[in-house]
Amino acid sequence: MDWAKERRCCLGRVALVPTMGALHVGHLSLIELARMQADEVVVSLFVNPTQFGEVSDLTSYPKTLEQDKARCEALGVDVLFAPSADRVYAPDASVWIDEEQLSRGLCGGSRPGHFRGVCTIVLKLFNWVQPDLAVFGEKDAQQLRIIERMVRDLNIAVEIVRGEIVRESDGLAMSSRNQRLSKVARADAVVIYEAIELAKKWVEQGERSTEVLMQGVRDRLARVPSLIVDYVVVVDDVTLEPVEQLGSSALLAIAVKLESVRLIDNSVLRLG
Ligand code: PAF
Repeated sequence: MDWAKERRCCLGRVALVPTMGALHVGHLSLIELARMQADEVVVSLFVNPTQFGEVSDLTSYPKTLEQDKARCEALGVDVLFAPSADRVYAPDASVWIDEEQLSRGLCGGSRPGHFRGVCTIVLKLFNWVQPDLAVFGEKDAQQLRIIERMVRDLNIAVEIVRGEIVRESDGLAMSSRNQRLSKVARADAVVIYEAIELAKKWVEQGERSTEVLMQGVRDRLARVPSLIVDYVVVVDDVTLEPVEQLGSSALLAIAVKLESVRLIDNSVLRLG
């Protein structure tokens, strides 16, 4: 990317916001965060095939390029980088980035190869754009921690900035996948947020057993019979290993399917 070479001499601090498009208010908040911390903002828009297991999940991923462009323009994004798949991967590509610890459980357990695809594309984007910082949303808690680990372990000179989860007015975490839900499923999906809020309340009231918390969350989710739970876990916020008793900070993470749409959400459970 010639632009990246030029920026090294002439532009100030550059931020990258990697996305797969179908931009929603959650993405826009990441772009605004990038704008606050950098002189130039690059948004990448690429539906990365190597991080999808099921072909149907990839083909049904919403694509709204014209709308995305308009939103980026309105927010003063300097560069929109939307390469085609054949430019991104050589047909005989054979080098991949594998994170071996944090990606074992949670989404990594249910979506084998997913984080290999994510890490590889993120590193490729870093190499192309050469940003000073990159912004990732906290909704994808495991992804965020894996990318932070990749940056640490591979000595990548990019600062990772965390963007808070943005929620709809009823609490559902914003996601491009939400638009694939029917009206009924969309209304049902709020149960995920309700379950998280309940868990936080139980912690405030003194509950420390993660088994009790996880069971309480599963019970709440079971109020929607059509909802299929992939996982409900409370893990150490740094190692993502299961914990039995709440320590200073643990991560409650949930993944479910509603009408075959995969939804994830999480919250850090803090004591006191
Ligand atoms: O979070 C996403 O949208 C994707 O996983 C990312 C980071 C853009 C990589 O394709």
